[in-house]
Amino acid sequence: MINSRVHIFDTTLRDGEQSPGCSMDVSEKIRMAHKLIELGVDTIEAGFPIASSGDFDAVDAISREVTSVRVAALARACSLDVERAARALHHARKPCLHTFIATSDIHLKFKLKKTRQQALDEAVAAVETARMLVGDVEFSAEDATRTDWNYLEEVCRAVAAAGARTINLPDTVGYSLPAEYAALIRHMVKAVGNSITISAHCHDDLGLAVANSLEAVRAGARQIECTINGIGERAGNCSLEEVVMILKTRQDKVPYQTGIVTEHLYPASLLLSEIIAFGPQPNKAIVGENAFAHEAGIHQDGVLKERSTYEIIDPKTVGVPNSRLVLGKHSGRHALAKRCQEMGFTLSRDELDRIYQQFTALADRKKGIQNDEIVQIVRAEMQYLQPTDVV
Ligand code: KIV
Ligand code: ZN
Repeated sequence: MINSRVHIFDTTLRDGEQSPGCSMDVSEKIRMAHKLIELGVDTIEAGFPIASSGDFDAVDAISREVTSVRVAALARACSLDVERAARALHHARKPCLHTFIATSDIHLKFKLKKTRQQALDEAVAAVETARMLVGDVEFSAEDATRTDWNYLEEVCRAVAAAGARTINLPDTVGYSLPAEYAALIRHMVKAVGNSITISAHCHDDLGLAVANSLEAVRAGARQIECTINGIGERAGNCSLEEVVMILKTRQDKVPYQTGIVTEHLYPASLLLSEIIAFGPQPNKAIVGENAFAHEAGIHQDGVLKERSTYEIIDPKTVGVPNSRLVLGKHSGRHALAKRCQEMGFTLSRDELDRIYQQFTALADRKKGIQNDEIVQIVRAEMQYLQPTDVV
């Protein structure tokens, strides 16, 4: 039987945190870690202990506090890094040591100045050391998508034999196309067999991180590495909320399950935005301010009659309290009447027509109309009306 459970490896506190404007101190990482547990992630990658004492302390603190999910720490493929990561994970109930080395010729030649054989030997040695210190080891072949497939297969087989439980094939520079990434994943799943979990780790440089991660799952990957709000190096990582909601919404085409409690997606996004320097762009899928907002009159009319006309997800499913009808120059009478009613004004058709004219004249001049401006229009037009419940 095909295993349809996909593990969510959250790297908000590691790959996400290492991007501009996203750094978090220990207490902020701990707050976020608790939110990630509520959300139901399978693994929290808490940091890169060799990078700084703050990162070491964060991994150590999260390891002590978090008992229900796997806690991962990153280490380059060298004993100094691996030992430091293992020390930071010492108190974790379910530790995972994540070691990596670049495998593409471009990285080997210009960055590491190593031969393929050297990188392979160092990968194997790091996995062996990690296995002696921590039972659960993940190996990442950095820049896997620009690596020669024969060599990558050799590396994958060797680290599997050395004891890695998970092999991650990152699209480090966000270069891959979905069909290409799927082919790579399919090939390596076949090469290493079912006892190893193949993991997808995609960056969003071409806006394909989510699509690539999804295709990876269809090709046999059973772990997705992703972040809240899609934060991460450069254009970011695969957005957790997007990939999870695709799997939930399109079970007809992608029948895979995660352990995510989707009602916590929006609260997790809000907490992250509060902690770091920025939130998601307003039109970001799932958690953006406009993800469940409707301004066009035709859409507002449709949603008021039947939500599913223009919404494929009930906002409550992701923890957003309600859809929002934004009143602006594209809005129609139906939405305006509803807003007036919510504010305690029950209008006749003639009254609504007159107020609507005033409203569109104002909406032509400015972006977005607030409730107090609507109240002013209603009062000016209908001086005798008294709102019963102005909000
Ligand atoms: O993008 C990448 O290659 C990484 C690895 C360190 C896993 O983040
Ligand atoms: Zn990455």
